[in-house]
Amino acid sequence: MRSIGIGLLGCGTVGTGVVRLLTEQGARLRGRLGAELTLRRIVVRDPAKARDRAVDRQLLSTDPAAVIQDPAVEIVVELIGGVEPALQYVLQALGAGKHVVTANKALLSSHGRELFAAAERAGRALGFEASVGGGIPVLRGLRQGLAANRFREILAIINGTANFILTRMTDEGRPFDEVLAEAQRLGYAEADPSLDVDGIDAAQKLAILLLLGYGVEARPKDLHTEGIRQITPLDIQFAREFGYRIKLLAIAKDRDGELEARVHPTMLPEGHLLARVDDVFNAIAVDGDAVGPTLFYGRGAGMMPTASAVVSDLLEIGREVLAGTAGRSPVVAWPAAPPPVQSVEELMTHYYLRFQAVDRPGVFAQIAGILGRHEISISSVIQKGRRSEGGVPVVLLTHWARERNIRQALKAIDALPAVLDRTMVLRIEDEALE
Ligand code: NAP
Ligand code: HSE
Repeated sequence: MRSIGIGLLGCGTVGTGVVRLLTEQGARLRGRLGAELTLRRIVVRDPAKARDRAVDRQLLSTDPAAVIQDPAVEIVVELIGGVEPALQYVLQALGAGKHVVTANKALLSSHGRELFAAAERAGRALGFEASVGGGIPVLRGLRQGLAANRFREILAIINGTANFILTRMTDEGRPFDEVLAEAQRLGYAEADPSLDVDGIDAAQKLAILLLLGYGVEARPKDLHTEGIRQITPLDIQFAREFGYRIKLLAIAKDRDGELEARVHPTMLPEGHLLARVDDVFNAIAVDGDAVGPTLFYGRGAGMMPTASAVVSDLLEIGREVLAGTAGRSPVVAWPAAPPPVQSVEELMTHYYLRFQAVDRPGVFAQIAGILGRHEISISSVIQKGRRSEGGVPVVLLTHWARERNIRQALKAIDALPAVLDRTMVLRIEDEALE
C-alpha cells in the first residue's frame, strides 16, 4: 500500500491530537484514503518535555530542516503557532516541494497572499481548515459547498476561549480571571491569551473568512476589533433584563458592494441561534443569496476537534497526491474588484449604552438632550436605584443610529461632570428592532 510521509513541526495541544489520530485511528484513515499516512518526524522546542504516550520519542528532534529536507516527508504540518519562525518554515517546506497543512491563523491572516502565491509557484497544496472554527469544516463549506453564493452576511462566534469565558460568567457568575485560567488549562487559549480576550484571534479568523468569502485581503489590525475584558457582570445582568445575551461576534456584511467587517461583543436576542452557542463551541451563520441561511456549529478549539480539521486536510491532500492533482489549482481565486471594507464610523446599528451617573434630577435629561442633538433616539431605558459609591447606572437602548454620531455624542456625555465613568457601549444584532 502507498505510504504518504508526514512531518510535524510542533507537538503541543494540536500536534498531540494529530499524533493520536494518526496512530490510534490509522486503520480507519487508511481505509478512507486507500493509503497510509505515516508519521516520519516531529520537531519540538524541548524534546525532554513529558509527552502524551502516543508520541514516539524516537521521532522527536529540534531540527526543522531535518523534516523539511527529508525526502520521505511529503506533507509538512506546521503547528508551532505565531508568525516567526512558522512563516520561514512554511515557505521553506513549499520551496522544498512539500505540501503544507497549518492551523495557524496568525500566519495566514498576516501572510496569506504570500503563502498562497508560494504554494502556487511550487505547485504544492496548502491546507488550513483548522485555522478557523477549530473542528468545524467552515472553510471547506465556503470554498466548496457554498461556492455558488454571494455571502450577504456572516455572523460568527469564532473564539472558543472568549465564548467559554462569557458563558461561564453569564451562567455561573464566575469571575473573568478564574474562567480564563480554566480555558488555558483545557488547551483552548492561545500561548498569549490576550489574543483571545482582546478579540485579536477572532479578527485574524475574520480576515481569513474575508479572504475566502469575498476575496478581500484585510489586515486584522485594520479591522475594527474589541475584546471582552470590559464586559462586567452588571452588563451581563442588564443584557438579560432586556432579553439579550452577550457574545463576541465576528461580523461580515455585504452592504451593496461595501463590506462591513468587525469584531466586538454583541448583544443577541436570547432566541437567536447564536445566543445559545455556549462554552468552547463556535458557530458561523452564513447567509448566501442562493442558499439562504446556513449554520456551521461545533467545537472551536481544543486538542481533538482541532486535530480533526488538520487530519481532514491531510486526507484531502493525500487523495490529491494519489490522483496526481495536489497543488494544481489555486488556493484562492482573487476577484478583479473586491469590495472595499467600510469604515466602522459608517456603521448603522442599535446600541446599548450604560452611563455611570450622579443620581440627581436633570442628569438623564442632559444625556438624552446630547443624544437627541446627535440624531440618536432612545428605544428603552432602565434606571434602578443600584446605588454605589460610583453613582448609579443608567442604561438605554437606541434605535438605529450611526456609529460616528454615537462616538461624538459619547465624547460630549463623558465630559459631563455628572457622568462619572467612561460609558459602556455594546452593539445589538436584533432583526426585530429593524
Ligand atoms: P502549543 O500547545 O503551544 O504547541 C506549540 C508546539 O510548537 C509545541 O510542541 C512547541 O514545542 C513547539 N514549538 C514552539 N516553538 C517552536 C520552535 N521555534 N521550533 C520548534 N518547535 C516549536 O500550541 P497549540 O495550541 O497546539 O497551537 C498550535 C497552532 O494551532 C497555533 O497556530 C494555534 O493558533 C493553532 N490552533 C490551536 C487551537 C487550540 O485549540 N489549541 C485551535 C485551532 C488552531 P514544545 O512542546 O517543546 O514546547
Ligand atoms: N485560542 C483559540 C480559541 C483556539 O479559543 O478559539 C482556536 O483557534
